[in-house]
Amino acid sequence: MKNSPFIYGVTVTRKSFTNRENEIKKLTDNLLGGINTMIISPRRWGKSSLVEKVADLIKSKNPRIKVIILDLFAVNTEEEFMEKFATEVLKASSSKWEEWVKNAKRFFKNIVPKIQISVDPVNNFTISFDWQEIRQHGNEILNLPEAIAKQKKIRMIICLDEFQSIAGFRNYENFEKKLRSVWQRQKDVTYCIYGSKRHMMSEIFDNPSKPFYRFGDIIMLPKIEREKWISFICDSFAGSDKVISNENAGLIADLMQCHSWYVQQLSHYTWNNTQKQASKSKIDKALNELKSANLPLYQRDAESLSPTQLNLLKAVAHGELQLTSVSVMNEFRLGTPHNVSKNKEILINLDIIEKSGNSYVFLDPVFELWFRESFT
Ligand SMILES: Nc1ncnc2c1ncn2[C@@H]1O[C@H](COP(=O)(O)OP(=O)(O)O)[C@@H](O)[C@H]1O
Ligand SMILES: [Mg+2]
Repeated sequence: MKNSPFIYGVTVTRKSFTNRENEIKKLTDNLLGGINTMIISPRRWGKSSLVEKVADLIKSKNPRIKVIILDLFAVNTEEEFMEKFATEVLKASSSKWEEWVKNAKRFFKNIVPKIQISVDPVNNFTISFDWQEIRQHGNEILNLPEAIAKQKKIRMIICLDEFQSIAGFRNYENFEKKLRSVWQRQKDVTYCIYGSKRHMMSEIFDNPSKPFYRFGDIIMLPKIEREKWISFICDSFAGSDKVISNENAGLIADLMQCHSWYVQQLSHYTWNNTQKQASKSKIDKALNELKSANLPLYQRDAESLSPTQLNLLKAVAHGELQLTSVSVMNEFRLGTPHNVSKNKEILINLDIIEKSGNSYVFLDPVFELWFRESFT
């Protein structure tokens, strides 16, 4: 039997990647044209997959352009950032580890990097710095890609995933200024910066009083359209000797509100349940499996909310528009108007709800289904 053609939980680039033609073109043109680009969307819509895809395309066609992807998700301090940044830039500078070491010594003037190489040098090259030196001469590290690119007559594209992590660094505001002032002067390095937590990313890039304002182009990554999902699902079934009707493929896209990760997940469960021809009852069964698979996460999320936050979420689920009107506040026991606005902010910061037009909507379509069944 063939394997499921649907993939979720890891980034997809070749297999299982669909659509995004416009975004691929735009991002490729920008990065090749030296335009720094920010990509913003809620998590699991496909930012990392898109960037990896574009990185592969650029690398395969341009040997003199080095593309680096840094995931900042687990990076908690400026020091860690600097070490990771320097390590990956040096690694991209050459295919030989001897040269990484040489470059590390050559390109730093005031900083003395401590280099470690272990048995498997390809995967185990790490660099660390003295914290005092980073403080005084951090610019040397931030400027490393430009220095190397000039010297070696190459270009670098540096992709920084989960960039909003830096907002949690101590002394973050100074750090942000430093990044911007060094990076904006670089000619041979282009940055692609992306992350979930939409409000945080917008705050970093879209606020005129912040250093990264107008750093480059902002792409608000949309969902993949329903029609594209339908052909993707139908083709993927057909390619693995099974069948699904357009109508049922549309049902999967609709139930998951075209959310990339969930469309793949529900398609996967449906595919698994299907011998030959997918039916509506197989989709129902798959949906139940999907809900139970995610249940522990939803319960954990819901348990971390206070009673008034949960109540606010109920009001949102109920489609209330005027959350601070007296009747809504009473009916759903939302507390004071101050509680409402505070809680609204918290739910938005947690990426549970977002503003859409004049109302609020859930960001996670299956959490929403579960919440409606459990709480309303
Ligand atoms: N272009 C795409 N085509 C098909 N599925 C996609 C696509 N982009 C993302 N996905 C699905 O969504 C999931 C999450 O994608 P990812 O790139 O990790 O999102 P993000 O970085 O925005 O959190 C992937 O594991 C995959 O199942
Ligand atoms: Mg990602």
